[in-house]
Amino acid sequence: MQVLEDPYQFQAYCASLDASHALGFIPTMGAIHEGHLSLVRASRRQDEVTAVSIFVNPTQFGPSEDLANYPRHLEQDLALLEKEGVQVVFTPTPEGMYPNGVATFVDVADLGQRLCGASRPGHFRGVATVVFKLFQLAAPTRAYFGQKDAAQVAVVRRMIHDLFLPVELVVGPIVRERDGLALSSRNAYLSPAERHSARIISRALRIIGEAFDSGERSTPRLLMKGTEVIENEPGLRLDYLTAVDGDTLLPVAEAVPGTLIAVAALVGSTRLIDNARVDHDDLYLL
Ligand code: PAJ
Repeated sequence: MQVLEDPYQFQAYCASLDASHALGFIPTMGAIHEGHLSLVRASRRQDEVTAVSIFVNPTQFGPSEDLANYPRHLEQDLALLEKEGVQVVFTPTPEGMYPNGVATFVDVADLGQRLCGASRPGHFRGVATVVFKLFQLAAPTRAYFGQKDAAQVAVVRRMIHDLFLPVELVVGPIVRERDGLALSSRNAYLSPAERHSARIISRALRIIGEAFDSGERSTPRLLMKGTEVIENEPGLRLDYLTAVDGDTLLPVAEAVPGTLIAVAALVGSTRLIDNARVDHDDLYLL
């Protein structure tokens, strides 16, 4: 497995691959877990070469967010990726990715302000910018993203479309713990008591899914059921719970099959997000 820190070396490596071979690319911020590995495996099944990037991207963190504390364990990450048969890992430094500071941004203006974009101004601009730069370096055939970050998927999909990027977006299902908690590198921040409270987030989604299955279509009433569950858990503070169209991220008044229920909640000082689409396979995973 090649581990490359220099952007130009990574770009040269990707450019040197046999043009008839598919290159699958999985951008990550490291602290690799089974959610990341599910995307790696999806690429290993269909691409000749799989590339992973590990980069805790400063431009997507707000000034009071957890950039400095974000979990970093490169050696362990590399061992996990090597076991999966990944051929190349790109591990740039912030100076390598942003050599002259940050002047050029990619901003998916309207989508970037919705869901987490509302409570994390600039977050999706940072995401779109770094993902675009990573695509420029890797020039992948396919790029793999997790449904866990549903708004990120919508932003990246729109960027690929608007900028005519020659890459196929593959979206993998959310990988969860046995009690339903979506895997996240940030789960490492949770104390045992917080971890216990956190399981309620996916429970709220399940209750909404079940209400939809029993015929409820009004989103205020569906969301009320989920809000009650979260507000009854003293360890959780709701940021948003909303029902939106998965592509536009705009709220819908009536839920239809596929409507995205998205939630963000604070568990202590850790912000966790989750989502599920009603009347969709997502609900079997909860
Ligand atoms: P990170 O949070 O490390 O996630 C990398 C990829 O793994 C994302 O596509 C994310 O949706 C996916 N992922 C995370 N948890 C998952 C889970 N439980 N199940 C399935 N997939 C999961 O998302 C980012 O990094 C960054 O914003 C990035 C795209 C790398 C840009 O900096």
